[in-house]
Amino acid sequence: MKCFEYFVKHYFFFSTLASLDICMCCSARGRIIASAHTKLQDLFSRCYNRSLLPVRKVAMTNNSIKRGGFSSSFGVLAATLGSAVGLGNIWKFPYLTGANGGAGFLLIYLLATLLVGLPVMIAEITMGRAAKANPITALQKLNPSRLPWWLVGVSGMVAAFLIMSFYSEVVAWVFAYVFKAIGGSILSSDRQVTEGAFTSLISNPLQSLLWQWAVLIFIGSILLMGVTKGIEAVAKKLMPLLFLLLLLLCAVSLSLDKAIDGLTFLFRPDFSKITAGVILTAMGLAFFKLSLGMGTMMTYGSYFRDDQNIPQTTVRVMIADLFVSMLAGIAIFPAVFTFGFAPSAGPSLVFITIPAVFSQIPGGHFLMIVFFVLAAVAATGAMLSLMEVPVVILHERLALSRARSTLLTIAVLMLLGSSSALTNNVLADFKLFGMNMFDLFDFVSSNVLLPIGGIALAVYVSWVWGADRFMHALSNNGALSNQVTARVVLFVLRYVSPLLILLVMLKGLNLF
Ligand code: PHE
Repeated sequence: MKCFEYFVKHYFFFSTLASLDICMCCSARGRIIASAHTKLQDLFSRCYNRSLLPVRKVAMTNNSIKRGGFSSSFGVLAATLGSAVGLGNIWKFPYLTGANGGAGFLLIYLLATLLVGLPVMIAEITMGRAAKANPITALQKLNPSRLPWWLVGVSGMVAAFLIMSFYSEVVAWVFAYVFKAIGGSILSSDRQVTEGAFTSLISNPLQSLLWQWAVLIFIGSILLMGVTKGIEAVAKKLMPLLFLLLLLLCAVSLSLDKAIDGLTFLFRPDFSKITAGVILTAMGLAFFKLSLGMGTMMTYGSYFRDDQNIPQTTVRVMIADLFVSMLAGIAIFPAVFTFGFAPSAGPSLVFITIPAVFSQIPGGHFLMIVFFVLAAVAATGAMLSLMEVPVVILHERLALSRARSTLLTIAVLMLLGSSSALTNNVLADFKLFGMNMFDLFDFVSSNVLLPIGGIALAVYVSWVWGADRFMHALSNNGALSNQVTARVVLFVLRYVSPLLILLVMLKGLNLF
């Protein structure tokens, strides 16, 4: 390759001199030679470009790599909502609401979503769209100062890997449960049977690993189809399906005897239960729910269309996401109360309590399949957005093809994630800092990396990138008149969100 480059350069240098000479000596002959020379030059430059393309690609900045993007407004909404919804709504929200006293927790969660979640989400998406690049490059591109802000992007990529390491295992359980639900083996009113089924799944190393790897390959294969034909197309189909299934489950749950008890638990606040711990847990959930603090929303923002109204879209995503959380609560709690189960069962609520509940409802077998398909749909949307972060970073920063960066991401996750998959079996006694690997990954990402990322991004957008640029980008370069909204968001980003997030983090680290 080098020889070829050398030859081409020198050929042009000498031949240009030579043809000038000839032209000066004899204009007629010179014209013929010059035209032959132009043709040759043309031919060489075409060969040169083609043969050196891979070399150039490595050296070039990622501006020149062609980027995918969401093609329609509905696609933007579906994909962004798909990232937000996730197992956070179907698995985490119900069990945290159940364990933290119901409606009081819900109220704080709503406030946290408005005060912390929404502004940071707007900030991330606006940055992503303005930079049209992966999070690391975006932070470099928009930042006029010399501080290494791009490290926030690196921390986002690390967080993505850590979250996926344990999240993919929960997704693996959900996918396994779709098949178990179809087979009917977990349909029993005896809690011991449903508990036994769950324990036998998580304590089997081979099953845990294979389900996790199957999930990673499944998600990776959607990403291989690209942003428009993969992420967007799949989200556009899955999100309406999710609402349909959820509404069906809500209708059944509301028709049960003690539905009213479940609704009271969910919607009537008992303020005596609101403690500092509850407030901080609710805020942490709001953060995790909206996929913030690690560049996911920035990455999706980079696929937003230029004419997309960002504040309007984020508000819609936030409302739809809260609506899904509510519907999940409505689908679960009336049923849990009707059959006398404890709403505070913890993370196993979905895997142990739900099958026992469904076993007592007419048509329960079918409804249980619906429930786990719904959870699998939700999990797919979130996993796609999580995996897209390292994929696009590797693709654009190392100039690997999208296929290679996807394969590399899957390979790293198979290794890293296996420690989560083996947590409940082979590595049951292995602890680091007093935690098993599953809990450690959850702890480091949720309690350290996401809050730090959230604070850093709020500060970056409002102080470093600056008010003028942020407001200009948020108004689609002046096309929208949303000055008041922009000022409110800016104020919250500057003075409210970082402080609140800091509280979450300090509590998460048990520093007060
Ligand atoms: N928001 C997702 C959920 O609720 C989880 C997630 C976190 C996805 C961070 C992407 C990034 O399940």
